[in-house]
Amino acid sequence: MSTNRRRFLSTSISAAIVGSTTAWTSASWGADAPPLALPKLPWEANALDPIISSNTVGFHYGKHHRGYFDNLNRLLPASGLTGLSLEALVKATADRADRVALFNNAAQAWNHSFYWNSLSPQGGGKPGAELGTRIDAAFGSLDELRKTVLANSAAQFGSGWVWLALDKASNKLIVVKTGNADTPIAGESVVPLAVIDVWEHAYYLDYQNRRADYASALFDKLLNWRFVEANLTTA
Ligand SMILES: [Fe+2]
Repeated sequence: MSTNRRRFLSTSISAAIVGSTTAWTSASWGADAPPLALPKLPWEANALDPIISSNTVGFHYGKHHRGYFDNLNRLLPASGLTGLSLEALVKATADRADRVALFNNAAQAWNHSFYWNSLSPQGGGKPGAELGTRIDAAFGSLDELRKTVLANSAAQFGSGWVWLALDKASNKLIVVKTGNADTPIAGESVVPLAVIDVWEHAYYLDYQNRRADYASALFDKLLNWRFVEANLTTA
């Protein structure tokens, strides 16, 4: 088990996500177990311009995200794990040396769907009053949360993810990072609320090596506070 994953004992995906984009959760499969399908984006591919260009979205969603689902569906038939939801598949393959490829592709499929929903053309700015109070309680201020998110983004060595999450034991908001495909939903103690993809493919076409510029622009202009609030409501 990785150090990161050990810290996360997370939850299953919240129902709020289903509300924000109808296609992306793998609610259940029928007896014939059709393939897991790439969900639709919750906005048009050019909707995040100029913070994230349609070119980046095209490659990121159309190549990377689609690729994880394609790999997953190629690996599933021989795995004996068909019929599980995507979330269940992540949990069933986490920390299994014989399931690494399945875990990586299932977790990346899930993480990216969560990422798209964490962004909104109407995002950024300030959260609602109730969420703002919780942010103040956990971090001191919205600006301190911003600093924490950006510090975690910079500190993630190589590819990974930076999550705003709810720690279930303390019922406090936290910021955590995971490497590569690691995801909070592999565990049970942390509820993910929003995520920033800090893999190079998320920003290199628009920002080249300037990850900090990407992360700060995303936080300021695109972070979907409504999604965070909805996830908190159902946490
Ligand atoms: Fe990505």
